[in-house]
Amino acid sequence: MKTILTGIRANSELTLGNYLGALLPMVRLANQHSNEMNVNIFVPDLHSIIADVDGNLQKNIIRTIKYYIAAGLELNDNVHIYRQSYVPAHSELCWILNCVATMGEASRMTQYKEKSEGRESCNVGIFDYPILMAADILLYSAEYVPIGEDQFQHIELARNLAMRFNHRFQSEIFTVPVKTSEQVEFMGLSDGIRIRDLLNPEKKMSKSTASENSKIMFDDEPAKAAKKIMSATTDSLGKIKFDMFNQPGISNLLLIDALVMDSPLQDVVSTWAGETKYGDLKQKVANDVSNMLAEFQSRLSGITDQQVLELFEKGESYANNVANAKLFEAQKAFGLR
Ligand code: TRP
Repeated sequence: MKTILTGIRANSELTLGNYLGALLPMVRLANQHSNEMNVNIFVPDLHSIIADVDGNLQKNIIRTIKYYIAAGLELNDNVHIYRQSYVPAHSELCWILNCVATMGEASRMTQYKEKSEGRESCNVGIFDYPILMAADILLYSAEYVPIGEDQFQHIELARNLAMRFNHRFQSEIFTVPVKTSEQVEFMGLSDGIRIRDLLNPEKKMSKSTASENSKIMFDDEPAKAAKKIMSATTDSLGKIKFDMFNQPGISNLLLIDALVMDSPLQDVVSTWAGETKYGDLKQKVANDVSNMLAEFQSRLSGITDQQVLELFEKGESYANNVANAKLFEAQKAFGLR
């Protein structure tokens, strides 16, 4: 049985952009395939500690899984939910892959360059981040790793490390994940989904933007979220058209509505063709977003910590079995066993 694997870091509050662009597509994909594939959804808590953690990590780890469930993740025996740090094989294989990866390739990773640039000191974890991520993937022979486009470079690195390792030991120990172009295809997207900042639609919606009205957070009051949509920046062209280049604000609203309503973007666009009243579009999107948030938040509040901890326990027993078996093969190849 093939494996789909994904993880979202538990560090922070998520925006509507993270929800529509990452969480929801992943949940829909998982539901679509969990009859015939393993779906591994894990919390990369060891990746979280490369940044300052504020004493809320435990709470955030549990909340991350609640998010998936509140977003509609269907649980069955093929869906495995676990915490990275409860499966020690991740750290072990990371070390082994550290001895396969080169300084050059790790130094070329954009995320590392961005996070280290201009800083006096940068922890080694930031540098090693993609190697641990490769271990996360290779331990489970995952072919499909649905993820945001900012992480594509890390998938390519995981592929290279798997191929190099296999070649070095004339083995097929690691399954090579599919190319990022095929990952995108598997996700059913022509492109990564990028929800824009409501006030500055040229930019991506980001939790770190100072302005409250630029972004919608998961825990925003639905009415407050609706107001933010109503005050979104548009343009003065007076036509409702999907054109990210000339009308990024209007296009962003159309895209948001398509994702929230789970309708093809084309259908949403043609519904509005010929219409000129931006206020009507905003009203519709504001309604749909606030309904979605209300529903999401009510489902979220119904999930207990205990439920999540039980899922972890079950998932970690599965994950340790699979991961330890793969780790053993890698250790043996090097003569460690
Ligand atoms: N780096 C991913 C992110 O920031 C999280 C992650 C860690 C991950 N290990 C992974 C995602 C393995 C997929 C597979 O979003």
